[in-house]
Amino acid sequence: MTKLDQIKAAESQLLLSTYERNPILFVGGEGVHIIDENGTRYLDLLSGIGVNALGYGSPVIEQAIARQSRALIHTSNLYYHEGQAELALRLTERTGLDRCFFANTGTEAWEGALKLARAYAGLRRSEGANLGTKFLALEHSFHGRTFGSVSTTHKAKYREPFAPVVPGVEFVRFNDVADLRAKFSNDVCAILVESIQGEGGIRPLSQEFFAEARALSSSTGALLIADEIQAGMGRTGKWCAYQHYGIPGAPADRSSSGGWIQPDVTTLAKPLAGGIPLGAVLCTEEAARAIHAGMHGTTFGGGPLACAVAIAVIDHIEQQNLLQHATEVGGYFLERLRNLAARHDSIVDVRGKGLMIAAELDSAELAKLTVAEMLNRRILINCTSDTVLRFLPPYILERTHVDEAIDALDVIFTQHAVAHNALPAAGGQ
Ligand SMILES: Cc1ncc(COP(=O)(O)O)c(C=O)c1O
Repeated sequence: MTKLDQIKAAESQLLLSTYERNPILFVGGEGVHIIDENGTRYLDLLSGIGVNALGYGSPVIEQAIARQSRALIHTSNLYYHEGQAELALRLTERTGLDRCFFANTGTEAWEGALKLARAYAGLRRSEGANLGTKFLALEHSFHGRTFGSVSTTHKAKYREPFAPVVPGVEFVRFNDVADLRAKFSNDVCAILVESIQGEGGIRPLSQEFFAEARALSSSTGALLIADEIQAGMGRTGKWCAYQHYGIPGAPADRSSSGGWIQPDVTTLAKPLAGGIPLGAVLCTEEAARAIHAGMHGTTFGGGPLACAVAIAVIDHIEQQNLLQHATEVGGYFLERLRNLAARHDSIVDVRGKGLMIAAELDSAELAKLTVAEMLNRRILINCTSDTVLRFLPPYILERTHVDEAIDALDVIFTQHAVAHNALPAAGGQ
């Protein structure tokens, strides 16, 4: 029995069967490559689902962990440590928001944002405002697996087994401004968006929809909450994907402070601490009025270790100009995928920003086969929303890696087309 077989057998007895894992045992990594037990290197274009922004074996992360773990790993939030304010300063400067709460994961950050919205609406009601408790979430949204998060996640398969979920959520058709207007009212305490939906298939909000969501929420005092857990922290070439949504000619008030559509609240996680779990909720000074001591908290969130690593990751991204790099290499990736799409009818759309990229195929079967064939060629990607190949590589990806992936996809689609055309026509003799 191989070591992998032993682990598989043990897990099948001992773990809840939440995951359908690929049969590979990873033991190490270097740069954009992850390495299995036999020393085989895989080009990782998924980076642990958008987490390992600096790739594997980053000395920056290694040194930050070593330094901080020698000094102090955990304090709880009953005491001060050096990391939270220093990290919060970096995050507020980069998001255009004022205050920060640290959590451990994406879903936990999202729960914090939902609670903040309900608490803020309650505060505003106590001050005489007409504001309800309803959330407007979007079709195709994904916000995580805890109760508030699944309740605001669109796909029924994530919610229904756990019914009843948190009440007071209505879904708006994606990018449908008329539907948003129809469903918005004073009952709404927050509009919830991902400016570029991740699990939903790398779908960007339209400028018009995002601007309308901002205008409607501002009109009543409801919050506009942008989930940047997958798209944020530089993945799209900007610190937050909402920063791609400019407001031409808008006055420099709170809703356009950085020249972009500014949400009242945003959530960050995945690449925030380069692989060490850490989430964050960022909000305006105004929304922060709703939270006082004892209302919300966490034992581990914002611990010294995670904060020290996040600070090192942010500083490294800046020093190495990785936002610019993600923009350039991502642009090249998109261009090469578009050229590929021009030659393969099975690719029906190519979209994305920076290193958050998708190629949508014409069948779920082909998408599944492509992921498996890429794995056979030692390249990791995945498929989301059935037909969408998703690429979330580390920010240190180079053009040569893109070429390697495109060449592999080219061979796979060519072989598929040949095999497909060789099949006898359905209903034929
Ligand atoms: C946009 C978005 N929000 C929330 C989450 C949940 O994050 P986590 O898995 O860290 O709880 C995810 C995870 O994929 C995500 O993509």
